[in-house]
Amino acid sequence: MTVLSPSRTGARVERQPLARYTTLGVGGESEVWFVADHAQLAEAMEQPYRILGGGSNLVVADEGVPERVIRLTGPLAQADLTPDPVLSTPEQIVTGWVGGGVPLPGLIRKLQKLGLSNLEGTVGIPAQVGGAVWMNAGTRYGEMFDGLHTLEIVTPQGTRQVTPDDLAWGYRDSGIPRNHIVTRVRLRLRPSTPEEVLAKMDFADHARKGQPKMKTPGCAFKNPGGGKGAGQLIDEAGLKGTRVGAAMIAPEHANFIVNLGGATAADVHALLALICDRVGVPLDLEYELWPETLPG
Ligand code: FAD
Ligand code: EPU
Repeated sequence: MTVLSPSRTGARVERQPLARYTTLGVGGESEVWFVADHAQLAEAMEQPYRILGGGSNLVVADEGVPERVIRLTGPLAQADLTPDPVLSTPEQIVTGWVGGGVPLPGLIRKLQKLGLSNLEGTVGIPAQVGGAVWMNAGTRYGEMFDGLHTLEIVTPQGTRQVTPDDLAWGYRDSGIPRNHIVTRVRLRLRPSTPEEVLAKMDFADHARKGQPKMKTPGCAFKNPGGGKGAGQLIDEAGLKGTRVGAAMIAPEHANFIVNLGGATAADVHALLALICDRVGVPLDLEYELWPETLPG
């Protein structure tokens, strides 16, 4: 790790291997900007940048990326769950601001303890709030947009607040353009009880029992909709357990690619290309590739 010269606004800037920040454990060195407020964020955005969340949907090149990689920290990774006295009603709690850098699993646990419902369907998603909102991460038991009231979005052109109604969101898609940074959100929650929320969480969590426990960025492809899911299609093509280098199509669930230890981005790219070649149906990639194109 190399500490680079300090930024004008006090952001911490370091060259770090992105493998440290991805659940796949792959990704070369890049310039990481740890930003704790809007002034630091504005400075980081003066040059080409990417925004990194929990790194749980990313396949980053072994060479890293040339752009600045922004990570939200400090107050932008804190949650104020106090009900807003003006926006909340007996039927609906609207929280204070929840930073885009807040880890989603901890947030879901806190909401359960407070007996606040709407987001428990996202249990087990190892994202940060900003990344989960940007992808509209979810399961068949619920998704991020079930519990959003207001979103703050920052671009080099400025800061704006929007509501879900302003966005064309859908399955695994918020409608927010790439690199428009979700800095914080207000949650829209339904008062319930810790027991009721926990029961729903347990139910949603049960659907994960067959998912692999190794290093992975989750499901590789979106489900095509209508008929069979991507996992079933890849499974039926006989590809479970197929390996390229140290990357493997998980034997437990064919839509997950796992790192057996020492996998490279090139290994993962080759497996993704092999799947697309062998499955008879066009599949839409869910992983985010940094940079964006499959080589070859
Ligand atoms: P990253 O992986 O860091 O980034 C993903 C994209 O979001 C990138 O384009 C990035 O630039 C952008 N982004 C990140 N932060 C922000 C921000 N603040 N503002 C704007 N854009 C941002 N997903 C599901 O939907 N459902 C599941 O059930 C599920 N299960 C998973 C299980 C495992 C074990 C793993 C490893 C992953 C799983 N995933 C699942 C995939 C992943 O968790 C989601 O796609 C999640 O939304 C990624 O969020 P992240 O914060 O990790 O984003
Ligand atoms: N199946 C197979 N073979 C496999 C995998 C699945 O035949 O290798 C079959 C299962 O038997 C089941 C069906 O396919 O009948 C659906 O499988 P599963 O219940 O595992 O759900 P999924 O559609 O594969 C989705 C999400 C997951 C989410 C789970 C649980 C997508 C692409 N995947 O998986 O999200 O965790 O439901 O709700 O939408 C992610 O997006 O990264 C992710 C992990």
